[in-house]
Amino acid sequence: MTSQLPGVRPTIVRLLSHMRDGKEIREYLQRFSGVDQERFAVIKVGGAVIQEDLDGLATALAFLQSVGLSPVVVHGGGPQLDAALSEAGIGTERINGLRVTREAAIPIIRETLTQANLQLVDAIREAGGRAAAVPRGVFEAQLVDEEKLGRVGEPTKVHLELVAAAARAGQAAILGCLGETHDGRLVNINADSAVRALVHALQPYKVVFLTGTGGLLDEWGDVLSSINLATDYSALMQAEWVNGGMRLKLEEIKRLLDDLPLSSSVSITSPAELARELFTHAGAGTLIRRGETILS
Ligand code: ARG
Repeated sequence: MTSQLPGVRPTIVRLLSHMRDGKEIREYLQRFSGVDQERFAVIKVGGAVIQEDLDGLATALAFLQSVGLSPVVVHGGGPQLDAALSEAGIGTERINGLRVTREAAIPIIRETLTQANLQLVDAIREAGGRAAAVPRGVFEAQLVDEEKLGRVGEPTKVHLELVAAAARAGQAAILGCLGETHDGRLVNINADSAVRALVHALQPYKVVFLTGTGGLLDEWGDVLSSINLATDYSALMQAEWVNGGMRLKLEEIKRLLDDLPLSSSVSITSPAELARELFTHAGAGTLIRRGETILS
């Protein structure tokens, strides 16, 4: 490990201070390096994190690279798009959470998402990591309902060539959510749909959501440490304190995990806590597993 990477040193110090013993980090490192690198982790980053915590995010991703791990990152660009579209006088209308995308919005969406993509790639490189910009070329999609939603696509196929090439070169692939229809029309893809399609195609060992809050919050506003879907899901979905947004998130995560081997898990954490979440038993964030029900 080299101290030339500016953010790596504080991350290591932080990590060491939270370890119970040295075995933990080694054990997780071995586990994560043992899988094909494009299958180690899919990390989803919202546009807000790029906007508000770019340095922290870039440092966290460069740290993974400094220990030989290359995740596949999918980023959104919600706040950036809201701003760019309102500046262009187009505004934003949503139906069922999907951004209605008229023809005139497409060039703005392309430019804004590509910019967010390059901003993240540059920041990772500045932090000493290797990253490949893949703003498009991965998601093939079909239009969901052109009349109602315009150019919004649902992924139908995931082209992994660029992701595999990045992994071979030891780079983190940074994917944007621009899709193309079969005949090459550009479409806007909801970041959750993109993550779902990618996870289905790659079958990663870890799926990580990096957020500002760093986990799912319990009724007192503290980060929930872990959730076992087999035993906790229905109670959580019925609990009064679980709000609509969290219910959607849980549904989405259940859908992801149902599609993965039992050994895979989802973690929700923040950029600053990513290393601690991945390399310690106790973690720092919310770990969600599918779990097993005990038959009686
Ligand atoms: N490091 C392990 C992993 O990434 C365990 C994480 C535990 N995290 C938690 N929030 N309880 O799978």
